[in-house]
Amino acid sequence: MMGSGVGSLALITDPTSLDSSVNFLDYTASKVALNAVMVSFAKELEPFGIKVNVVEPGHVQTDLNGNSGILTPDEGAATAIRMALIGPDGPTGGFFGSHGRQPW
Ligand SMILES: NC(=O)c1ccc[n+]([C@@H]2O[C@H](COP(=O)([O-])OP(=O)(O)OC[C@H]3O[C@@H](n4cnc5c(N)ncnc54)[C@H](OP(=O)(O)O)[C@@H]3O)[C@@H](O)[C@H]2O)c1
Repeated sequence: MMGSGVGSLALITDPTSLDSSVNFLDYTASKVALNAVMVSFAKELEPFGIKVNVVEPGHVQTDLNGNSGILTPDEGAATAIRMALIGPDGPTGGFFGSHGRQPW
């Protein structure tokens, strides 16, 4: 599932994080909820060997932000692709960015 750094309560309340410099009520609320939905799916599907995680792409140049991002779409896709290719020993029920596991 595609989440966002602004869907992390830890990051939006950390003054040293870029994610705390914006305030998007509906977007953040939906991404926080997405993390909860993901955890529920991960629990439900774990017995079947299906892994469910949220990834966040970083700040990517797309229509969403008027192309103001610092990453290209290819770079933004990297975490999603890496997590889509995890093996049987890979994680489930987590929140990941380009540097690995992210705080909720
Ligand atoms: N860009 C960033 O920096 C950034 C950062 C964090 C997370 N994300 C996440 O990455 C994902 C992709 O965002 P993006 O930056 O690529 O945004 P985008 O350029 O605005 O693209 C959004 C895509 O979603 C489709 N879409 C929108 N509403 C839809 C609907 N109701 N039903 C079906 N498709 C719909 C759009 O289709 P049409 O083109 O046909 O309208 C478009 O292909 C989002 O989940 C976003 O929250 C992006």
